[in-house]
Amino acid sequence: MYNLLKGKRGIIFGALDQNSIAWKVAERAHEEGATFVLTNAPIAMRFGEINALAEKTGSQVIPADATSMEDLENLITQSVEILGGKLDFVLHSIGMSINVRKGNHYTEQNYDYTHKGFDVSALSFHKVMNVLYKNKAMNEWGSIVALSYMAAQRVFPDYNDMADNKAYLESVARSFGYFFGRDFKVRVNTISQSPTPTTAGTGVKGFGDFLVFAEKMSPLGNATALECADYTITMFSDLTRKVTLQNLLHDGGFSNMGISDAIVADYLRE
Ligand SMILES: NC(=O)c1ccc[n+]([C@@H]2O[C@H](COP(=O)([O-])OP(=O)(O)OC[C@H]3O[C@@H](n4cnc5c(N)ncnc54)[C@H](O)[C@@H]3O)[C@@H](O)[C@H]2O)c1
Repeated sequence: MYNLLKGKRGIIFGALDQNSIAWKVAERAHEEGATFVLTNAPIAMRFGEINALAEKTGSQVIPADATSMEDLENLITQSVEILGGKLDFVLHSIGMSINVRKGNHYTEQNYDYTHKGFDVSALSFHKVMNVLYKNKAMNEWGSIVALSYMAAQRVFPDYNDMADNKAYLESVARSFGYFFGRDFKVRVNTISQSPTPTTAGTGVKGFGDFLVFAEKMSPLGNATALECADYTITMFSDLTRKVTLQNLLHDGGFSNMGISDAIVADYLRE
């Protein structure tokens, strides 16, 4: 380990279980010397697994529904108090689509579900940054990261309304990132991650087949949750201070591929 986050304080949203990308980020941040608060939706607390992570990383857990301004105010004020100072990093690792869960086709959404999914997966990022900004809760040269997926730019039909949510998420990183940079020297980026077998990931129809396809298409193979955590740690470290307003592709090269030998070989075999 490299002590990359020695003395840094943060908040990590979205560790549900050991497969969660946020879980791996918490483990890695702890190894790199950070102290942080873990948070998730009150309903996710019922599974109880986050307490094991809190114990392992010496962290406190503060439940917060990321769509509730009241919960976010409480979370951020309390975190600064508990950690003994302003924050150096925040990870937004939250995603949920009820249309995906219920199997509604993209062309026939239930718009109440669309609205809820947008609030949880996309608008929540604006809300989190709004509370951090208003409360001047970030230290200079701090770093805010949200996780995205390439369906924000390209068509992946079964990703459904999450594609639109990710497009908004990435846009907000740029728009809010401007003000955070100008006023507080804080950077804001999204990391666009390979398909990863987590609760949110495997909820998408055809996920298993797509995972194999992406693996064969990417010259370096799919990026794992742990590799995503490593990349996120670099974005929280002082080594990336001038990287901001970016959507950073962490996908083994998938996004710049047209076709690969492995996919052609599969095609010819059929
Ligand atoms: N798994 C993939 O294939 C993949 C690929 C690219 C990007 N991502 C993104 O990574 C992020 C993390 O997802 P993951 O794959 O680790 O899955 P995950 O299911 O482990 O994490 C999603 C988290 O969102 C939380 N959440 C849901 N509603 C919430 C609310 N109202 N308030 C606060 N938290 C809430 C869940 O409790 C859960 O902890 C998401 O933004 C996801 O879209 C995932």
